[in-house]
Amino acid sequence: MGILIKNGEIITAADRFVGDVYCDGGKIVAVGTGLVKQGQDDVVIDASGQLVFPGGVDAHVHMELPFMGTESSDDFETGTAAGVAGGTTSIIDFVIPGRGQDLLDGLAMWKEKAKKAVADYAFHMAVTWWGDKTAREMEHCVREEGIPSFKTFMAYRGAIGVDDVELIQVMEKAKELGALVTAHCEHGDAVVALQQRFLREGKTTPRYHAESRPAPIEGEATARAIMLARMWGEPIYIVHLTCIEALDAVAEARRRGQVVLAETCPQYLLLDDSVYDKPDFEGAAYVMSPPIRPKGHQDALWAGLASGLIQTVATDHCPFHQVGQKDMGRDNFTKIPNGAAGIENRLGLLWTYGVLTGRIDANKFVDLFATQPAKIFGLYPRKGAILPGADADIVIFDPTATSTISAKTHHHRCDRNIFEGFEVKGKARYVIVNGRVQFNDGKLDVQRGAGRYLPRKLDKVSAPVRQ
Ligand code: URP
Ligand code: ZN
Ligand code: ZN
Repeated sequence: MGILIKNGEIITAADRFVGDVYCDGGKIVAVGTGLVKQGQDDVVIDASGQLVFPGGVDAHVHMELPFMGTESSDDFETGTAAGVAGGTTSIIDFVIPGRGQDLLDGLAMWKEKAKKAVADYAFHMAVTWWGDKTAREMEHCVREEGIPSFKTFMAYRGAIGVDDVELIQVMEKAKELGALVTAHCEHGDAVVALQQRFLREGKTTPRYHAESRPAPIEGEATARAIMLARMWGEPIYIVHLTCIEALDAVAEARRRGQVVLAETCPQYLLLDDSVYDKPDFEGAAYVMSPPIRPKGHQDALWAGLASGLIQTVATDHCPFHQVGQKDMGRDNFTKIPNGAAGIENRLGLLWTYGVLTGRIDANKFVDLFATQPAKIFGLYPRKGAILPGADADIVIFDPTATSTISAKTHHHRCDRNIFEGFEVKGKARYVIVNGRVQFNDGKLDVQRGAGRYLPRKLDKVSAPVRQ
């Protein structure tokens, strides 16, 4: 059974035109005008007055991540379902082996967990320590498993964080393999020193999470990661960039022609650090690393998106309930699990506060939301495109619908939403995933386990940045 989408305004990263899309066998078969049904039982969707985008690719999520003594509260089923409700049809999650654990052990665990996914998924591999087998296992990831991107954490010292020696080892090996290193940039030792100072002074509330990880700490680590990549392993992709200092480091490198790619997230574009002063420990919902920044950084990030310094907007979806998880740190901010939900809200927020405010145009929106993450991480044109031969992952978006984000109505498995009360204009009316309508007028119709693993291959990592 095919699906014919008629008379929608099709928006890709490059084009905008009224036309039709015909899908069959899970693929887009034709894009054009005047297309007609091919089979008796084809479904026809009248998309007049609606916008048609490629399904979103969220390149940074953590489903059921064991972290800080607990586990992120969305599993692969509930998290990918929430993504579908928000027009995100593919995710890239992070395999994060513990310190001392083999990469391939970690991968086996993540493969098992991800079998529940309702939408397609890929993995990045985090290298959290360097051992005798690490280089060989990295090679196996790239050559046999379709995982050509490696994550390093410069924060989280004593847990999953690496030191500079280990980071250099990852970069050298990744360069040899033609793989992409991604980095969480915060000066891990400086964070620990500040945390200890605040705890000694009896400063234990969520506000001190932010105070112990100020912007210069991210800026320094970003510059250092870029410098190390310049010496040992260009290119590099900076995850969840939040601040002017880090953006300056990226801009400086790109002026020199270094291939540096960067990602930010809606929370860093739309929230400021006053969230940490909410009463009754509600600031804990916003405890994530890096933290939400003071006013001023958000405008710089929007400008970074518009000017092309930042290529992708992901979510870093990593939810923890306030009750039973975040409250582990009620008396000590360093024990509050780091992370928040966002996969369902990326589309509405980026459209409303990016496109409708004129900060980015609609093509740029599609690029940030779907096309660039697919290109950078080796999923394009299977994902992130409305082209014949691409997977039939399509969002039909009603630009007139309005809604208010709330934990009471979201699909995230989390008792808080950090965008609570945000008004959103425009809404996914239908979301087609692998050629089947899986979200229709507010109702999810997903299948546990229907998501497929997406092996990836990077042809030329530098292409998107040199465009
Ligand atoms: O606070 C965050 N970001 N939690 C998820 C892990 C990470 O650092 O990406
Ligand atoms: Zn991170
Ligand atoms: Zn993350």
